[in-house]
Amino acid sequence: MSQISGARTLHRLIYTSRVSIPEAAIDHEIGSIVQTSRRNNRDVAITGLLLVHEGYFVQALEGPAEAVMSTYRRILDDPRHEKSKVLSAGPAAGREFGDWNMCARRMTAGDDAILDTLRARDRFAPESLSGAAVLRLLTAVRGIQARTRLGALG
Ligand SMILES: Cc1cc2nc3c(=O)[nH]c(=O)nc-3n(C[C@H](O)[C@H](O)[C@H](O)COP(=O)(O)O)c2cc1C
Repeated sequence: MSQISGARTLHRLIYTSRVSIPEAAIDHEIGSIVQTSRRNNRDVAITGLLLVHEGYFVQALEGPAEAVMSTYRRILDDPRHEKSKVLSAGPAAGREFGDWNMCARRMTAGDDAILDTLRARDRFAPESLSGAAVLRLLTAVRGIQARTRLGALG
């Protein structure tokens, strides 16, 4: 098969959704999501990052198109979130989150600089960010994640 057939092209999908997990259970549930994700995503060559902030999830999934779409469809059925909205989806030139089958970060006060950059601190509203802006947000989070490992979940 050709290397450039649709199934082999790298795709990236970024979506946001509202967390529907009680605050008291959130760290535990996210730990469990990350554990499951690492196992499943490794098997289908998906990498990505999951951000949790102010009641929102923002997640990037990258890998073969079919694997990305079937994983996203499975995630959509998960009762731990709701109101999912795709912010960007399509072919990507390379992996941005290649180090992680899935890593998660809950934003903390120490991450203010990132939120300042996005002028998103007053009201974090990822559903109104462009695909490019949300990718910038996630790659900035990836940067601090790599440097600090603080605030990492799972
Ligand atoms: C916000 C969110 C992100 C998730 N991300 C992933 C993921 O990247 N990969 C994955 O396999 N499951 C992910 N899940 C979990 C799936 O919804 C589902 O529970 C899981 O894939 C089932 O896997 P299992 O049949 O191996 O237990 C996510 C769930 C939520 C709520």
